[in-house]
Amino acid sequence: MIRVSAPGKVYLCGEHAVVYGKHGICASISMRTRVSVESSDEFIIESFSGVSRGHPSKLYPYVAGAIKKIENLCEITPVKITISSEIPPASGLGSSASVTVATIKALSKMFGVELEKEEIARMAHEVEKEVQGSASRTDTYVSTFGGVLMLPEGEKLPVPNTSIIIAFTGVTSSTKELVASVRRLRERHPKVIDGVMEVIDSIAILVKERLKEGDLLSIGELMNINQGLLDSIGVSTEQISSIVYRARSSGAYGAKITGAGGGGSVVILSPSENSEKILNEIKPLCKEVFLTSIDTQGVREE
Ligand code: PMV
Repeated sequence: MIRVSAPGKVYLCGEHAVVYGKHGICASISMRTRVSVESSDEFIIESFSGVSRGHPSKLYPYVAGAIKKIENLCEITPVKITISSEIPPASGLGSSASVTVATIKALSKMFGVELEKEEIARMAHEVEKEVQGSASRTDTYVSTFGGVLMLPEGEKLPVPNTSIIIAFTGVTSSTKELVASVRRLRERHPKVIDGVMEVIDSIAILVKERLKEGDLLSIGELMNINQGLLDSIGVSTEQISSIVYRARSSGAYGAKITGAGGGGSVVILSPSENSEKILNEIKPLCKEVFLTSIDTQGVREE
């Protein structure tokens, strides 16, 4: 049996601005999706969502897309694919990317196809685009390579020594709709929104410098400023604001939306001694909270 895992991700800064070619910084997190593949008489895909038999699977479009990618490269035989994930689906944490990346890697191992990480990331991005209609390459890229990465270049940055708390609001949102709503706002107020994007870009450049210095206080402050700008373009919510303010008053370095917003998740950078307190304080405001850390590794065989 082949076992592979791939991580989810958070945005330390720069979401929405990256859509306009600006910089952003993402980090892979220690919340992973695990995929195992073994020979079988028929195609079976199994996870907490249920069992699907046959190929292509309607229940598991990302996995079906991953199988097709490998089918294009070599002759394959039926397999049983078992998936388990620590990443809640549709939470802005890159769960679909991690499933796709891990499945491509596991199947390539199973059928003896050598794939460079660049190829895994490219194929996984194609699968996401096919399933969703459009997708940025961020989630699949970060899940494949892991660590802290500056976008769009993919430059590796130092990993800060900090706890990461993730607060999932329980509200699922559509990235496509939120990106479209920001675009409409920009059409109405181009100068203002371009200015906001420019400032978010300068935040990303500063966060990169502060990461090199290990200056977590400044990174937290810059994340807070980034949150204010995300609020200004209409992608925050009352619930997100409550979580963000509670986390900050409980001792976080910084707290902001991660991903598209409109629900989804909040990322909180916290000194390890305050993590427990922050977790307890924000719990009543969220659907789920996770104490995690930045994972330096991307997709890997287990
Ligand atoms: O919510 P997520 O994790 O899909 O992130 C969306 C990030 C955006 O910048 C809003 C869109 C994008 O494609 O980069």
